[in-house]
Amino acid sequence: MPDPLLSAALAARENAFAPFSKFKVGAAIEDLDGHIHTGCNVENATYGLTVCAERVAVFKAISEGVRKFRRVAVAADTNVLTPPCGACRQILWEFCGDVEIVLVNLHGKTETYRLKELFPKPFDVSYL
Ligand code: THU
Repeated sequence: MPDPLLSAALAARENAFAPFSKFKVGAAIEDLDGHIHTGCNVENATYGLTVCAERVAVFKAISEGVRKFRRVAVAADTNVLTPPCGACRQILWEFCGDVEIVLVNLHGKTETYRLKELFPKPFDVSYL
């Protein structure tokens, strides 16, 4: 039985706007009610304004009023599974805390982490 969160991340990857890198990424986030919010990377000709799939998914969910999350999936076409970049780890930490992160590729290979493993000493509101 396929995991709907992984299927959603893989489907979202198909919408990636990545004409510059050609590196397509999809993300899916499950909230505490079981709803899934998706995102893909959206690149920009100035390169630096590119937004990763993970942040698109988080910001879509936040903008719809969702505040509590259970799991995140990240899909890319790599043999060594693609993890969230540093900027996305920071955003994921602030909005999702120590969530489960599942990485997946097009062959269905998966690896599961807690965000704290990928981002062990985060800066956050507790320091302010
Ligand atoms: N990218 C993501 O969307 N998520 C990741 O986890 C890694 C990188 C995007 C940004 C850019 O559009 C492309 O992949 C190459 O870096």
